[in-house]
Amino acid sequence: MVPYYIRGSTTGGFMEQEQPSFLRIIGEELVDYRIRSRYYHPKYVRTLDLVGSERVLEFGCGGGCMSRALSRALRPDGRLTCVDISEYWIKKAQRRLHAFSNIEFLAGDITRLEVPDNSHDAVVIHFVLHEVDPAVRIDVVNALAKTLHAEGTLFIREPAHPPHGIPVAEVEALMRDAGLREHHAGCTRSWRWGRICNGVFLKSW
Ligand SMILES: C[S@@+](CC[C@H](N)C(=O)[O-])C[C@H]1O[C@@H](n2cnc3c(N)ncnc32)[C@H](O)[C@@H]1O
Repeated sequence: MVPYYIRGSTTGGFMEQEQPSFLRIIGEELVDYRIRSRYYHPKYVRTLDLVGSERVLEFGCGGGCMSRALSRALRPDGRLTCVDISEYWIKKAQRRLHAFSNIEFLAGDITRLEVPDNSHDAVVIHFVLHEVDPAVRIDVVNALAKTLHAEGTLFIREPAHPPHGIPVAEVEALMRDAGLREHHAGCTRSWRWGRICNGVFLKSW
């Protein structure tokens, strides 16, 4: 059964996540995992200023490109929880990152997974929310905000151009409606994606 919470689109429908094309698999392996996850993702993770002992939840970890950089930024007393709705991609991430002892993997819908409330210091969303059906984005952000402890931080980076993107104003509105306070939100330019929305939001409840 196709779950309702992944947007069926020309760029990332459910079947594409569970049975990616040969080109998608090769592209992800060569470009995303072998190159971007070594050079670009660690650069982004450095901007998060993690001290290393945090409990971090990565929403939509895919094949683990960002997870590798995040787990390296965490010490053994830190913890990374990788969540993805796709069993295909989370199994791939699990295989790739089996040597890291500070990661746990959860396959499923964040609104149903029952991750304990107030259990994480930070949530990282990297190129995921634009793939979630607009009708349920607020449920997803609410669920993620609940997993943060008081004064936790949500970091988000998304392509900003619809249809394969989400406008920064929508990201700001979703965070506000979920009770998160904006610390910073803005756009940068990328040769590959055009405008990219980069935001940091704080919980204070
Ligand atoms: C473009 S990939 C990004 C992967 C990773 N965050 C990165 O930047 O390397 C998007 C991922 O989001 C996942 N995803 C899409 N909708 C989701 C949802 N509702 N809940 C959890 N994961 C979702 C997809 O399965 C896919 O693995």
